Amino acid sequence: MRVLGIESSCDETGVALVEVQGAGVPVLLAEALYSQIEMHQAYGGVVPELASRDHIRRVLPLTEQVLASSGRALADVDVVAFTRGPGLAGALLVGAGVACALGAALGKPVLGVHHLEGHLLSPFLSADPPEFPFVALLVSGGHTQLMRVDGVGRYTLLGETIDDAAGEAFDKSAKLLGLGYPGGPALSRLAERGDPAAFKLPRPLLHSGNLDFSFAGLKTAVMVQAKKLALAQDCAVTDLPANVLADVAASTQAAIVEVLVKKSLAALNQAGLKRLVVAGGVGANRRLREQLNSECARRQVRVHYPELHLCTDNGAMIAMAAAMRLQSGQQTASEVYAFDVKPRWPLDSL
Ligand code: KG4
Ligand code: ZN
Repeated sequence: MRVLGIESSCDETGVALVEVQGAGVPVLLAEALYSQIEMHQAYGGVVPELASRDHIRRVLPLTEQVLASSGRALADVDVVAFTRGPGLAGALLVGAGVACALGAALGKPVLGVHHLEGHLLSPFLSADPPEFPFVALLVSGGHTQLMRVDGVGRYTLLGETIDDAAGEAFDKSAKLLGLGYPGGPALSRLAERGDPAAFKLPRPLLHSGNLDFSFAGLKTAVMVQAKKLALAQDCAVTDLPANVLADVAASTQAAIVEVLVKKSLAALNQAGLKRLVVAGGVGANRRLREQLNSECARRQVRVHYPELHLCTDNGAMIAMAAAMRLQSGQQTASEVYAFDVKPRWPLDSL
């Protein structure tokens, strides 16, 4: 069985073809991705209407590219999967509409996939896939969650952010330091040259006794710190010397990463598990990976990450999640081609 997956929830159009071979982990045959980052950069963030229109332009050429590089034809596709939510409504509608039109034209069933389930299962695309059960740290631009994962579709929420997501904390802090969009990668690059202990920034909810997160206050603390420095130097925040900005960036990153690492370890303890899966865009962060690796090694915990290029949004994770849902019997694909999207959709409601 071959599953074509289409991702269009935000600012990346992704298409991929995955093959299910018996009971083994499904295999990625080909993938293609178009990132809209350059287009949105002029606006300092994602413009939903522009995102939708660009998905329309990209999705079919990317599909042709995936078929060509896998040496397959549309007739070889058995199921067409798409991201049904959460995400931007208009952007989701493009992927859903194209997937259902393709399914109807081919007479093949379709399947709507949860975007976060895609992230959650993306480490199964790596050469060394995890085994169930595990604790998952889902850290993206819109979500920060700790889940207990006992199998495909068996997700228990252990904790989540009560306000901003970790990716948002990176993005908003980066923006006020004048680093542009998307802020996460830019802030972490600048942080490489800074001192993570230069400024004492808050570690929100670190000792809350539960597994929830809160990052909204952090950006305010970063802003207060940066403005204080700017006032002392009689300049704008964005005109602070590069080494000072690097210290602020490093301290911000250190605060976010420390909370993510400590809560992940607490979640492993609480669940009594020795396996951690990290997924979502912030999972690409180098400091997060280094600190998790060293803390987990000390506790004999195995950590799994998606391959670096599959941390952020892509079509492979959507094709993979659909393939694993079908393979596990969690769901069947449908030949009903009327579709809806779910801009808000809690993962543990699956
Ligand atoms: O999973 P993703 O591609 O999209 C969502 O589903 O939200 O995650 C995007 C988020 C953005 O907030 C981006 O700034 C962040 O992931 N991000 C990073 C890094 N790469 C991407 N944050 C910190 N360090 C990185 N290297
Ligand atoms: Zn995502």
